Amino acid sequence: MAKHLKILVITSEIGGFSKSGGLADAVGALSQQLVRMGHDLRVLTPAYACVNQQHIASTAAQSLKVPLDTGEILCRVLESSLEEVHQGHQLKVPIYLLEHEHYFFRKELYGELGEEYPDNAQRFGFLSKAALQLAQELNWIPDIFHAHDWHTALVPYFLMKKRQTDSQFQKSRSILTIHNAGYQGRYPGYLNSWLHIEDTHFHADCFEDHGGLNLLKGGMLSADRVNTVSPGYAEELKTHLGGHGLHPFYQRLEDDFTGILNGCDYHQWNPETDPHIPANYSSSDLSGKALCKQALLEQVKLPNQPQTPLIGMVSRLTGQKGFSFLIPALEEILKEDLQFVLLGDGEPGIAGALEKISKSGANNFSFQLGYDNRLAHLIEAGSDLYLMPSLYEPCGLNQIYSLRYGTLPIVRAVGGLKDTVEDYDQKTGKGTGFVFQEPSSEDLTRCVRRALKNFHGQPKSFSQMVSSAMKKRFQWEEAGKEYLKLYRRALSSEAANNPRT
Ligand code: ADP
Ligand code: GLC
Repeated sequence: MAKHLKILVITSEIGGFSKSGGLADAVGALSQQLVRMGHDLRVLTPAYACVNQQHIASTAAQSLKVPLDTGEILCRVLESSLEEVHQGHQLKVPIYLLEHEHYFFRKELYGELGEEYPDNAQRFGFLSKAALQLAQELNWIPDIFHAHDWHTALVPYFLMKKRQTDSQFQKSRSILTIHNAGYQGRYPGYLNSWLHIEDTHFHADCFEDHGGLNLLKGGMLSADRVNTVSPGYAEELKTHLGGHGLHPFYQRLEDDFTGILNGCDYHQWNPETDPHIPANYSSSDLSGKALCKQALLEQVKLPNQPQTPLIGMVSRLTGQKGFSFLIPALEEILKEDLQFVLLGDGEPGIAGALEKISKSGANNFSFQLGYDNRLAHLIEAGSDLYLMPSLYEPCGLNQIYSLRYGTLPIVRAVGGLKDTVEDYDQKTGKGTGFVFQEPSSEDLTRCVRRALKNFHGQPKSFSQMVSSAMKKRFQWEEAGKEYLKLYRRALSSEAANNPRT
């Protein structure tokens, strides 16, 4: 039988502890899956202010000295776990929470009022440094250091350097998973020495980017393997248009860069068992869905019109999600016979524009500002259609949740959206949603009209689509197997001593 692996996951957020978006959902569910498969996987993440103190076993704290160029910082690592009962067994993912009052005990994870915290490079550089130190302190040397996104992209670099001086780490390999290549961790070059980036690695083929520092770029060139969260996005990243300025570097990784489609955590997102919605339902009995719609309309103060199609959207309010062409399209879209509820939090400019529309007299549009997990579940369950018009989308989880809830997604054909939603084909009547191509108000509006036409004019085909959508599954079991192959490929290859150039 293949050896079970020791895996240390280093992440800036994880479901059950901290969350700003899908990163938390994906890292949490993947970690649980790998533990189910029998691996010794542990997670290192910050002890933010939002981490519920009750989860922490305070007796099990580990002290840690993290070396920085200004000297060592002495901190504590608290122990907790992500727990589930699987096939009658209690399974635990050990979670190490890195405590640092100044860096992590803040109101938000990354910033406030649309502004990033100015010391994010130091905060997450500190987390990345702590990963290697923790492994050493625990005398538990992982086979795999699995880093996620720019925040922990320094981990592969630190491991590469560590291998040169410490024989214990010779066999360890690093994986960097990119959940969002639009965020790269760009900072002034003078932070190099604070972050322990060597001058010889501060050049255009490594960490340097237009005079500054690019943590994602240097991290991906140092990692043993890199992947992103859908095959579609992996292809886009290699192109000039989709590579967020880094396409030559994705191309350079060749076969060491792949796409693995995220799964969906169907324990959390299942209309048959969801505790957050007023009535459960299944594809064979949708009566509960009608009750959810009624409750949703009441909660968001829209008139109770069960026959009118209701479009839902839950989103971070940021450019990535297509607001630049959605907002100008809303006036036209809201003239249609529909209702629309949008829950979101993020950039004040986008929130302000949506608030203005909701107050401008359109009585079929409700904008809910804030972060509300229960309402997010209710929107998935109570809406008829779900809108996700992203400019780019590495994977996207909300459209996958929508499919499971029989809420047909209207999406743009990018990244993971293209990989998970099948466009309605008028000739065959088949499909699981409605897909449009261009990032324009016109194309979006046309697609919304196409969906409405189907809802009103072809009720039979609409309900067939709902039924096919609800049968679709994107399992973490499958993704877990792919990650394992990736780990094994990394472990069987020579370790690099320098970033790839
Ligand atoms: P992204 O990670 O880019 O934000 P995803 O579709 O992968 O996009 O995941 C978004 C996750 O965050 C989903 O679980 C979604 O329900 C949740 N989410 C986003 N915004 C909110 C919000 N305002 N309130 C509650 N949940 C939200
Ligand atoms: C990111 C992406 C999103 C993806 C999520 C989880 O936040 O924007 O598309 O689903 O990570 O991988």
